[in-house]
Amino acid sequence: MTDDERASHEQASAEHLKAVRERFDDRAPTYDDSAMHRGLAAAVAAFADLTEVDAVLDVATGTGLVLRALRDRGYARSMTGVDLSPRMIDEARRHLPDAELLAADATELPFADDTFDLVTCVTGLQLFPHPQAAIAEWMRVLRPGGRAITATFLAFDPSRHRGAPAAAHIDHTPFDSLERLGETVAPAGFIVNRSDTWTDGADEVLIAELISAR
Ligand SMILES: C[S@@+](CC[C@H](N)C(=O)[O-])C[C@H]1O[C@@H](n2cnc3c(N)ncnc32)[C@H](O)[C@@H]1O
Repeated sequence: MTDDERASHEQASAEHLKAVRERFDDRAPTYDDSAMHRGLAAAVAAFADLTEVDAVLDVATGTGLVLRALRDRGYARSMTGVDLSPRMIDEARRHLPDAELLAADATELPFADDTFDLVTCVTGLQLFPHPQAAIAEWMRVLRPGGRAITATFLAFDPSRHRGAPAAAHIDHTPFDSLERLGETVAPAGFIVNRSDTWTDGADEVLIAELISAR
């Protein structure tokens, strides 16, 4: 890649992140009105194997619905969340006073290697300009034997997500089947260990647990 191509690529990523951040900053006060996102968070919490989990990181935590659902399920140990949108993080802080909640880009997690037992990322991956770089970060921050849980759309009805970012900033294709998800997470050293599907109206979501392939 030439220097000009690299500069153009970085500018496109920065513009993508800015547009997504602004969209979710605007949406933060009303995000929790979505019964779909509340229901999916509860389904992910029910799917999660919390055996020997002492520290959870929720990437693209938004208003913290997934961490709240884990807490409602009885999980009472360390909880951390990161999100690109400072206003979504402000909302999460109101509901999760004991969690560590930070505004950060998913591809530059501000944590040391081997920090977490479980990483969750629910309906975030399709918004990242570099999802494989974000997935590689999960492998870095997970302790040996750690797991990740993703929730990605198999079917996405835009008419039910009018507050979502522009279509140009959404790409479901690397995660929209079990096979493609497996191919997408493989370079980071993950394999899909188990999965389930969850449906709400015209939205169909793949919930998957990833473990190290090594
Ligand atoms: C559809 S919401 C999902 C929020 C939450 N996981 C849930 O299930 O309710 C997507 C979230 O991804 C966040 N996000 C998008 N791109 C991001 C990035 N590059 N790094 C971190 N968070 C990001 C957005 O700010 C937004 O809060």
